[in-house]
Amino acid sequence: MKDRATKIIVTEDGSPSVYLPGINESYHSTNGAYRESVHVFILYGLEAWFSRNPGKFPIRVFEVGFGTGLNAWLSLIWSEQYGVPVLYHSLEPFPLAEEVFSNLDYSAMDESLFHFRPYFSKLHHMAWDKGQPVSEFFNLKKDTTPLQDSQLYPSDIVFFDAFSPKKQPELWEPEVLKLVVDSMNPGGVFVTYCAASKLKRTLASMGLQLDKVPGPPGKKEMTRAWKLE
Ligand SMILES: C[S@@+](CC[C@H](N)C(=O)[O-])C[C@H]1O[C@@H](n2cnc3c(N)ncnc32)[C@H](O)[C@@H]1O
Repeated sequence: MKDRATKIIVTEDGSPSVYLPGINESYHSTNGAYRESVHVFILYGLEAWFSRNPGKFPIRVFEVGFGTGLNAWLSLIWSEQYGVPVLYHSLEPFPLAEEVFSNLDYSAMDESLFHFRPYFSKLHHMAWDKGQPVSEFFNLKKDTTPLQDSQLYPSDIVFFDAFSPKKQPELWEPEVLKLVVDSMNPGGVFVTYCAASKLKRTLASMGLQLDKVPGPPGKKEMTRAWKLE
């Protein structure tokens, strides 16, 4: 991924995303960036784990690919709305430039988001490689270390939001996925937009239990896998 030139695009639900012409890949589904993040990561990840573990917090979320910060921001909103502490660890070796992230606005997607708009910028401006509170219930540590070289903390929920296996196959290799799976707590859940059968077979071979969940708009399926208690 040498050519990191970026372009802001508008996806089908009206929300923006970032597109990399150099690899012809966007940070989210063109069928709707906002709807994809809410569906895959918040509803089928965070909410699903919490409904199985209602009294267990802080919730430890690990994300591969901070990117636009959309998943982190939606998680922050969730933690503030439910009053549930979330410790969020995210990796991003290629942080977006300010001229890019300052032109992304997801708060127009729903009236209830408007109040949280300043936190989007706060998430981006926070120092790298240092855990810090961002809001009352949400703590963020974002690291510039690539996944392959990272020391991972135990996590309850994994947001695996790397570029697709076609565009960045090295992040979907069994050795790399194993690092992530090994760091998951018993009862933890792994979610990603990718529904490739090779990924599902790899996760199953590591002992995770897969369930069938619908994909976000424009996709029949996604992947969700649980680590047994
Ligand atoms: C699908 S996009 C990001 C999505 C992001 N969660 C968002 O909502 O914008 C994938 C992200 O993974 C990052 N990335 C690339 N190589 C990586 C690596 N080796 N380890 C971790 N993240 C990586 C990219 O720079 C990009 O921001």
